[in-house]
Amino acid sequence: MNINNVELERTAVNQSQYPTEKKPEAAFVGRSNVGKSSLLNYLVNRKSLARTSSSPGKTRGINFYNVEDKLYFVDLPGYGYAKVSRNEKDFWAKMINEYLHTREELKLIVLLVDIRHQPTELDHIMLEWIRHSGLDLVVAATKADKITKSAISEQLEVISKALVLTEMDTIIPVSSSKKFGRDELWEVLREKLRV
Ligand code: GTP
Ligand code: MG
Repeated sequence: MNINNVELERTAVNQSQYPTEKKPEAAFVGRSNVGKSSLLNYLVNRKSLARTSSSPGKTRGINFYNVEDKLYFVDLPGYGYAKVSRNEKDFWAKMINEYLHTREELKLIVLLVDIRHQPTELDHIMLEWIRHSGLDLVVAATKADKITKSAISEQLEVISKALVLTEMDTIIPVSSSKKFGRDELWEVLREKLRV
């Protein structure tokens, strides 16, 4: 897709604040600092549309990015960030759950995992929810620039096994900093969102 127009349309913390216009949505989920906001920027070719940070916990609300008036990319706060208060964690969990459970326009989950590591316990919990929901899944294995080409194939195997991915799922190595994986990911996005 040729992308000229993309903007942050809304930041929501509850259902009443979600956009009312109906467009297919892809949600970016994963642990804090895994590279969700960076990947979103890379996908739409914008350096700093979604705010990123080297310290975890940057994205706070649910951010709806309107892409070419055709679809929304939804950037969610990451999970598993230790340094926030219990109250804040509960608030985030509730916010994310509410979105995932109620949003009819949600068509595809992009689950991000760091290509160098085994998925975490929270990734498994998230995956279980995704399976339960029946939503389509694409796994983006992030920060693939940090390892060699042969290690990339090995790690894709390791992660696919750990997450018990099926033939219906796709796993794609991506690097937002060295800029690879975008076309492959867009292909899946286009197909699953029918845009
Ligand atoms: P939260 O909003 O806290 O949940 O984090 P996030 O998942 O949105 O992560 P973010 O995009 O802010 O990136 C976190 C850090 O990882 C930043 O320092 C990025 O520069 C770095 N990073 C993201 N993607 C890549 C990548 O592909 N390669 C490398 N080497 N670093 C990356
Ligand atoms: Mg973020």
